[in-house]
Amino acid sequence: MTVRGSPGLTAREPLRPVLYDESSDAVRLLDQRLLPAEETWLALRDADGVADAIRTLAVRGAPAIGVAAAYALACEARRGASPAALEAAGGRLVRARPTAVNLAWAVNRMAKRFGDGAAALLREAHAIRDEDEAACRRMGALGAELVPDKARILTHCNAGALATAGYGTALGVVRAAFEAGKDVTVFADETRPFLQGARLTAWELHRDGIPVTVLTDGMAGWLMQRGEIACVVVGADRIAANGDVANKIGTYGLAVLASHHGLPFYVAAPWSTIDLATPSGDSIPIEERESDEVLTVAGMRIAPVGVSARYPAFDVTPAALVTAIITERGVVRAPLGEALQRLAGS
Ligand code: MRU
Repeated sequence: MTVRGSPGLTAREPLRPVLYDESSDAVRLLDQRLLPAEETWLALRDADGVADAIRTLAVRGAPAIGVAAAYALACEARRGASPAALEAAGGRLVRARPTAVNLAWAVNRMAKRFGDGAAALLREAHAIRDEDEAACRRMGALGAELVPDKARILTHCNAGALATAGYGTALGVVRAAFEAGKDVTVFADETRPFLQGARLTAWELHRDGIPVTVLTDGMAGWLMQRGEIACVVVGADRIAANGDVANKIGTYGLAVLASHHGLPFYVAAPWSTIDLATPSGDSIPIEERESDEVLTVAGMRIAPVGVSARYPAFDVTPAALVTAIITERGVVRAPLGEALQRLAGS
């Protein structure tokens, strides 16, 4: 079901794109396909509806899809689903998108409570949501210390409040620097083809009064060459044990450019994005989406009929190109693999 209008969202209130409405027993999702033109909240009452919202990017961003899946399972349990049915629903949710490990992480965490009843599952989903926002705020505080005053910060895709439970990872760093009184400006790559940068990053920063300028995806190198960018800060969908980082397609190119120009390249991600079971980026599954998403813009075909397109939705940035990973447990630098192992024990 689609509900137009907002459940109490006004400008400057913290932006939380995934909510649970106890009175109607529904997962409420701010539909990110329609922003910035429309603020429409979906009300979904079962796991298949939420899996579909994840697949079609109504909700997107690694931590946010994990939170949405957790609430979907809590909803199913409240409607009387057995542990076996919850197991099956969890599998369908995980298969909706393969790259962001936070989705499987959240479903696995919920699965430990499948036998404990609906109330316990709802408590667990709330805990996943609350912990993610707290992690973002902690990353923000740690990351803001790396951002110089008057920094022009380049980011890619949307790793903001919209991609998390709230506050954001990369944009959490920006928010914290801004809240600390630093004069920061964000350059937001438009991020073809879903335009997470032009539509979502620009919308949420503008909403919060943080200066933002949109770039097309090919402009970063030129601006770096001219000295107009101080650092790059991005989020991540999965970080392998050796520190290789999977993130939105285009991130790897920015890391190469940053390295060439001697600029810091920071990755902000909660611990739920770290996948120590995956040894390196080579083993990270990369989602291939429908080529039509590349061949059309706002429903209009932009390439000749009969021409094909590729759409790998993510790429992998080798650890050697990452200056530091900012997590809620601390900031780690090279050698990233060893540093992540140390944090794992903390
Ligand atoms: O396809 P998307 O929009 O889900 O991709 C999202 C990203 O690549 C984000 O940078 C990543 O999930 C980090 S979210 C804090």
